[in-house]
Amino acid sequence: MNPRKIAFDVLKGILRGSRRGGPILFEFREQFLSLDPKDGALTERIVKGILEKEILLERLVKEIAGVSYRHLDRNLKILLKMGLYQLLFLDRVPDYAAINETVSLTRELFGAKASGYANWFLREAQRKKKELILKSQAQGNGGILREIPKWLTDHLREEIGLGQIERLLKSKESPPIGLRVNTLKISREELLKRLKDMGTEAKPSLISPHGISLERHQLKKIKGEILESGIAQVQSEASQLAAFILRPLPGQRILDLCSGLGTKAFHMAQLMEDKGEIISVDIDLSRLRELKRTGERLGVSIVQPICADATLGLSALIRGGFDRILLDAPCSNLGALGRKRELIFRLSPKRIENLAQLQLRLLKNAKILLNPMGYLLYVTCTVSRIENEENVERFLASEPDMELVSPKSNFGLIPDELVKVPGFVKTFPHMEGTDGFFYALFRKRKRG
Ligand SMILES: C[S@@+](CC[C@H](N)C(=O)[O-])C[C@H]1O[C@@H](n2cnc3c(N)ncnc32)[C@H](O)[C@@H]1O
Repeated sequence: MNPRKIAFDVLKGILRGSRRGGPILFEFREQFLSLDPKDGALTERIVKGILEKEILLERLVKEIAGVSYRHLDRNLKILLKMGLYQLLFLDRVPDYAAINETVSLTRELFGAKASGYANWFLREAQRKKKELILKSQAQGNGGILREIPKWLTDHLREEIGLGQIERLLKSKESPPIGLRVNTLKISREELLKRLKDMGTEAKPSLISPHGISLERHQLKKIKGEILESGIAQVQSEASQLAAFILRPLPGQRILDLCSGLGTKAFHMAQLMEDKGEIISVDIDLSRLRELKRTGERLGVSIVQPICADATLGLSALIRGGFDRILLDAPCSNLGALGRKRELIFRLSPKRIENLAQLQLRLLKNAKILLNPMGYLLYVTCTVSRIENEENVERFLASEPDMELVSPKSNFGLIPDELVKVPGFVKTFPHMEGTDGFFYALFRKRKRG
């Protein structure tokens, strides 16, 4: 398999559509894994590099193409950016390889005429290479902020301040991977020992007593024996906090709203010793199918998937009276912007505002199904105040029977430094080395 062809397919999916990077990378996982490690690293470097420098590369393509820029096909432009990126930024790829490989891939995909153009374009870029590098460095002098659109800088400046945005963007390299031990099958100590015997350098996580931290490149090594056998699941430490904050007890009825693949639901099932009931609701049937398969692998029996749109009234579909509800709402995902640059192609101020409205609606719908004295945990993986703090304020203002409670009161695990006033838990990738999550815990007051 040609690594550049895989990079092109992945980039086409991300740059051209509204599709998210995660599912696209998942789709190409098998092809990606079939590459030898050197080619895999090149594919990853090209995809990440182009997403990081998209704004700059678009400007350079415009400059080199001149009058022909307006007529450029969008897919051809992706190939030109790939060639240009290798020429200007990848020292280990010789110029001739950057040019020849791009030209031959263009011929394979778009025919002789397009490849003739790509050849002219890249040779022109090679001729002006020094000048273009100087130009891109000058652009870079404005700082990493130039890698994201201005509206997003403005938005984030209001949310977290300028200094923090730069740190957020710099946290681009993948942090170590988090594993959650499936304590229904094995203890953390036993699993750590097994991982050590397999030659991996696994460490216990700092906060989560179910967490293990592992270097990302070791994931392949543990795929069969550890992950497929269901004794552990990939889950970041910040995400593991959800179940600990909500603290479901054995025998309780739990609603997992917007369950996705059910990662947090399975963790809750662990805390409940697989006793009680967890209803996992998501709008995406394919995710629920995957959830079902995962449940079998993990040996969890209490999670029941239901496919439904949670913005509509759920009472007709699901009997209320839940002791705990987890709402892991769809969000702008800005907490992962450092390593998911493709987000800039999916987001806009309007989209973030719409997401905030959707989240508030989901919160209100969830609350209807909650028992008095029951807990509702609202989770997002963004740093956007409009989706986080402001939604909490709006929710409390419209629902007088709900109160915000300290996430610490429910479980002693959460360290003070993560609890931000007044009672939210927030993690930041550049501070805690994990994705940026937001947690707010509510309780429904007693009736009358
Ligand atoms: C942040 S993800 C959930 C991740 C999941 N809880 C986990 O731990 O793996 C948000 C989920 O919300 C779902 N979703 C979006 N809109 C929805 C809606 N209107 N009703 C139900 N689920 C929805 C998406 O399909 C997605 O799986």
